[in-house]
Amino acid sequence: MSWKVFITPLLAVAAANVVFPVNISRLVLEILISSAVWMIVNYDMLSKSPFFRIHKSYVATLHTLLILGSLASSAVIAKFGSALSTIYLFAALSILLFEEASARGIGVFLSVLMFVHFNEDIWILLEGLIMSIIASITLRYVYRRIDVLKSALIMSIVQAVLFSMKVFIIGTVGKLEIPLAAANPFISSIIILGLLPYIEYASRIYSNIGLIELGNLNHPLLKLLSMKAPGTYHHSSMVANLAEAAAERIGANSLLARVAAYYHDIGKVKRPVFFIENQFEGENPHDGISPFLSHLILDEHVKYGRVLARKYRLPIPIECVIAEHHGTRVQVFFYNKAKELDPNVSEDDFRYPGPKPRFKESGIIMLADAVEAASRALKGKTHSQIRSTVEEVVMGIFGEKQLDSSGLTLEDLENIIDEFVRVIMSFYHHRIEYPKESIEVRALNGVKK
Ligand SMILES: [Fe+2]
Ligand SMILES: [Fe+2]
Repeated sequence: MSWKVFITPLLAVAAANVVFPVNISRLVLEILISSAVWMIVNYDMLSKSPFFRIHKSYVATLHTLLILGSLASSAVIAKFGSALSTIYLFAALSILLFEEASARGIGVFLSVLMFVHFNEDIWILLEGLIMSIIASITLRYVYRRIDVLKSALIMSIVQAVLFSMKVFIIGTVGKLEIPLAAANPFISSIIILGLLPYIEYASRIYSNIGLIELGNLNHPLLKLLSMKAPGTYHHSSMVANLAEAAAERIGANSLLARVAAYYHDIGKVKRPVFFIENQFEGENPHDGISPFLSHLILDEHVKYGRVLARKYRLPIPIECVIAEHHGTRVQVFFYNKAKELDPNVSEDDFRYPGPKPRFKESGIIMLADAVEAASRALKGKTHSQIRSTVEEVVMGIFGEKQLDSSGLTLEDLENIIDEFVRVIMSFYHHRIEYPKESIEVRALNGVKK
C-alpha cells in the first residue's frame, strides 16, 4: 500500500475542520480514527478491485470524492443538521462509479469522521451507517437513471421512519427534520445524476448508466467502424455476444464485457483492408509487402485503438481491453513468412505489444476474439467439431500463459468453453441439418420436418 494513502485522511480531516475553529485534542482524535478507518477501507478496495492497481485515476477519483465528501458533510451538517447530511450522496456516487466495497467504505469513513467531528454525536453515526448500507444494497445493480430515483424513494422512506424514531432514541426531533430527511435522498439523486456525466468524462471511470450509453451503436466511433470496416463491426458484435454470455456465466461484469468487445478492434478503422474480415474482393494487400511491415500494421490497430480510446474519453477498462486483447501473442502467419526470408528472425520480433489481460473481462474478450475468428474458419458445424475447436483455442491461449494475470481460474475456463459452444451453436442452429436417420425417426413419431 502506497504511503500516499496516508495523506487522504489528513486532507479529509483538514477539509472537515474548515467549518469549525480547530480544537487540537479533537483534531488528533479525528486524524487517528479516520486514518485507521481509511486503512481498512483501502485494504478492502485494493484487494477486491484490479482497476485500483491498473490506473491512478481510480485512486485519485475516490480520494477526491472522499475529501469533497468530508468538506460538504461537515459544512451541511453544521448549517442544516444531519437531516440534510450528504453522506448518501457521496456513498451513492462511489457505488455507481466503483464497486460496492468502496461505496460502503466511503460511507463508513464519512460517518465515523462526522461522528468524531460533531462531538461524538451517535445519531450522525447511526444515520450515516444506515444510509451507506442501504445505498450499497439499492444501487448495486443500477442500469438506468430511473433506478437511482427508485433507490432515493426507498432511502426517503427509511429516512422518514428513522427520524420519526429519533424522538424515542435521542429524546427530541426538530419540527422540520422529518420532511427534510425524507426530501434529502431526492435532492441527492438530482445532484448525483447531474454530476455523473462530468465525473465520467473527467475520470474515465464510468457507471453502468454511462456504459450503456457507450454501448449504443449510434456512438460516433461505432458508426465510423461500421462504415469503414463493416467486417470488423460484424466480428465485434459476435465477440460481444460471446464475451457477454461468458462473463455472465462466471459472475464477471457482463455489461463491461459486451461494451468493451464492441470497441476492442476500433483501431482497424485506420487500415481496414489489411484485416481479413474486411477483404471482400478476395485481394490480400499483405501479399505485396514484407512480413515485417505486415507485423507493424497489425500492431498499429492496437496502438491506434488506444489513441482513439483516449481521444474519445472511453472508459479506462475499455482502453485496457484494446491494448490487451492480443496480449503478447505471436503473429504466427507473418513470423513463419519472415522465417522463410531470414531463418534467424526471432519470435519476439513478431509479438503484439501487450500487456497481457489484467482482469477477467479482458481475458474473456481475448478468448472470445480468438474463438470467433476460429469459428468462422470451421468447415463442419456439428457440436463436437465446435467444441473441439473452442477447447483447442482456449487451452492454447492458456498454455501460452497469456491469462496468468487475468484472474481467470481453470474452473472459469471450463465454464467459458461451455458458454462459447452454446452461443456458437445458437449462431449456426438454423444451418444444422438433421441426419437422414433422425429425420425418418422424427417423421415416424409424427414430428414435422
Ligand atoms: Fe484485434
Ligand atoms: Fe478482434
